[in-house]
Amino acid sequence: MVPSPANNTPIIMTTKERINLQFEELWRGLWGWIPGGPGTGTRRLLYSPLFGRAGKGLRTGIGVVVQGFRNIRIGNNVGLNRLSSLYAARGTITLGNNVFLGDFSSINANDATVTIGNNVAIGPMTLIQGANHAMDRLDIPIVQQGHIPATVTIEDDVWIAAHCTILPGVHIASGAVIGAGAVVTKDVPQNAVVGGIPAKILRFRE
Ligand SMILES: CC(C)(COP(=O)(O)OP(=O)(O)OC[C@H]1O[C@@H](n2cnc3c(N)ncnc32)[C@H](O)[C@@H]1OP(=O)(O)O)[C@@H](O)C(=O)NCCC(=O)NCCS
Repeated sequence: MVPSPANNTPIIMTTKERINLQFEELWRGLWGWIPGGPGTGTRRLLYSPLFGRAGKGLRTGIGVVVQGFRNIRIGNNVGLNRLSSLYAARGTITLGNNVFLGDFSSINANDATVTIGNNVAIGPMTLIQGANHAMDRLDIPIVQQGHIPATVTIEDDVWIAAHCTILPGVHIASGAVIGAGAVVTKDVPQNAVVGGIPAKILRFRE
């Protein structure tokens, strides 16, 4: 059951949604392990039609996880490296042209809208998160309190380095660089280089 963000009552996943998730897992299990060029080519052919939209030149590495293909739109020349993941069983993810997601990185829509522009590089082990757990009530466990989704927007020409966390509701403007290991809690202005926990402006690109 998926908790509802609105009233904390669980949403029962429909049979159709459950079957869809099972099908997606089966499909990934069949094709997700094939290495090298044959794997990339096979997955391009067999994954692309499942997306809400898929441009040309999709490359997915071994073990890429996609949930909610139909809620994900991707542009041309998108690379999803080994063991990276896109979760949009609920919510939506949009990736522009020339977007690269590093090994083990994850974009988790979680009821929210996550939008990434063109020419965006995302390093390995980075997490982009579209929702927090609601946690205000003390009388029921946090896991039963639902999610609070918040739109994440990453504009064009952004480099997010290794091992970063982008929190729900954050807007990263074009030309920004997110330094390795940053936890981004607030909006990042255009051409800023930020780093640290919480991420602070280190300088501006000139
Ligand atoms: C953010 C980054 C691009 C900045 O590079 P830079 O502009 O050359 O910065 P500098 O090395 O000159 O450091 C400038 C200051 O920022 C600090 N800084 C640099 N990177 C930082 C980071 N990731 N987090 C926090 N502070 C950082 C430095 O300590 C230095 O501080 P000081 O002036 O007090 O000494 C780089 O440090 C970085 O994090 N690269 C990511 C590498 C990576 O993950 N690659 C693989 C992914 S694709």
